[in-house]
Amino acid sequence: MKYAFPDNFWWGSASSALQTEGAREGETTWDYWFAREPNRFHNGVGPQQTSTFYQRWKTDIQLLKQLNHNSFRTSISWARLIPDGIGEVNPEAVDFYNQVIDELNEQGITPFMTLFHFDMPMAMQEIGGWENRDVVDAYARYAEICFELFGDRVLHWFTFNEPIVPVEGGYLYDFHYPNVVDFRRAATVAYHTVLAHAKAVQAYRAGHYAGEIGIVLNLTPSYPRSQNPADVKAAHIADLMFNRSFLDPVLRGEYPADLVALLKSYDQLPACKPEDGFLIAEGKIDLLGVNYYQPRRVKCRDSAVNPQAPFMPEWFFDSYEMPGRKMNPYRGWEIYEPGIYDILVNLRDNYGNPRCFISENGMGVENEQRFIENGQINDRYRIEFISEHLAWLHKGISEGCNCLGYHMWTFIDNWSWCNAYKNRYGFIQLDLETQQRTIKKSGEWFAATALNNSFEK
Ligand code: BG6
Repeated sequence: MKYAFPDNFWWGSASSALQTEGAREGETTWDYWFAREPNRFHNGVGPQQTSTFYQRWKTDIQLLKQLNHNSFRTSISWARLIPDGIGEVNPEAVDFYNQVIDELNEQGITPFMTLFHFDMPMAMQEIGGWENRDVVDAYARYAEICFELFGDRVLHWFTFNEPIVPVEGGYLYDFHYPNVVDFRRAATVAYHTVLAHAKAVQAYRAGHYAGEIGIVLNLTPSYPRSQNPADVKAAHIADLMFNRSFLDPVLRGEYPADLVALLKSYDQLPACKPEDGFLIAEGKIDLLGVNYYQPRRVKCRDSAVNPQAPFMPEWFFDSYEMPGRKMNPYRGWEIYEPGIYDILVNLRDNYGNPRCFISENGMGVENEQRFIENGQINDRYRIEFISEHLAWLHKGISEGCNCLGYHMWTFIDNWSWCNAYKNRYGFIQLDLETQQRTIKKSGEWFAATALNNSFEK
């Protein structure tokens, strides 16, 4: 069957500043944490060891071109642009991002820019990070500076990438700095992130810039084990906490009432000010980026919660290892392609069919060198992964979902948060020692698909 996509469909990939640039300037929480606990990072490899995009941006953009990308998302490093988070702008960073943006535009590759992709400047973390409302204002200033500097040539902005991840990682499950495990603090961080997002949107609207502004959310459809009301309720609560805590504010301009009621009943609501409601209502977006990797399978709890134990999301559900589910054995994540369709249908039916695109989808694989054939990684599994997801995406579009593009994670194998180079995701293989880049089979497949605006399967 031939899968043809609408005209002007966005074909591309995504990456982020910290994961690719190297030449770090302006310390982030990742630099700080790595210097103190390198053992928390796979093989002790930290965020300095990258594909050195800071030096190789020009030839890397040539490679993007070779892969027939018409769009590409990366992020600006707040810490590089404003090393202490609030003070002087670093002119070298301005030059760097100007060059990257101009070159992308010149090559016919539309730049999509994220303002915050997990890389909190350490100076901001030292004053409490997102727990401190002052950081919300510092971020809004940083966003405004970016719009002023680059807003004439960047027409697609994203305030945050996966804002729930630093909340989960840093304040619930101990996989990001500052390694806190405390639900109320997590709720405050999430809430302040929503306020920061809304302030950036406000500033963008006030500046009458030429483009559009959105956010990138990792949406994990929550599937209950069964239609038994207890399982359904468990899935609903997981959805409220992990998806709708950001999705509703940015698309509906308000929090889900049942999430607020639930947290209130357990005395877990963050402190808020009377004017916050207006601000959140102004944070409604023009464009939603959807990152989709895997669903969440849940069931009602098998055992009662110990009321003395600290409050956690898992008070309401257990994860469910569905028999027979397809897994990516390397990353340990489920592969469930129809999830991408379910997300789009949910957006269409329950959120007014917003302009959206798939901003990340991808497959991390360990020891990919073993798949080298004639000097090239023959990653059939990745082609299968992408084409199956695209087939479901195509179905969604043919049923009226407003999905405008597909970006793969990622362009060149890059450094991952804690996992470093354990799982490789790229269209292009990176030799970290020599910095040699070799296009994988999936890169060629994607280039042909993007060129034809279609593929056959
Ligand atoms: C997304 C992030 O969560 O998934 C990326 O936006 C990340 O930054 C990607 O690298 C893959 O996850 P991981 O943890 O395997 O790198």
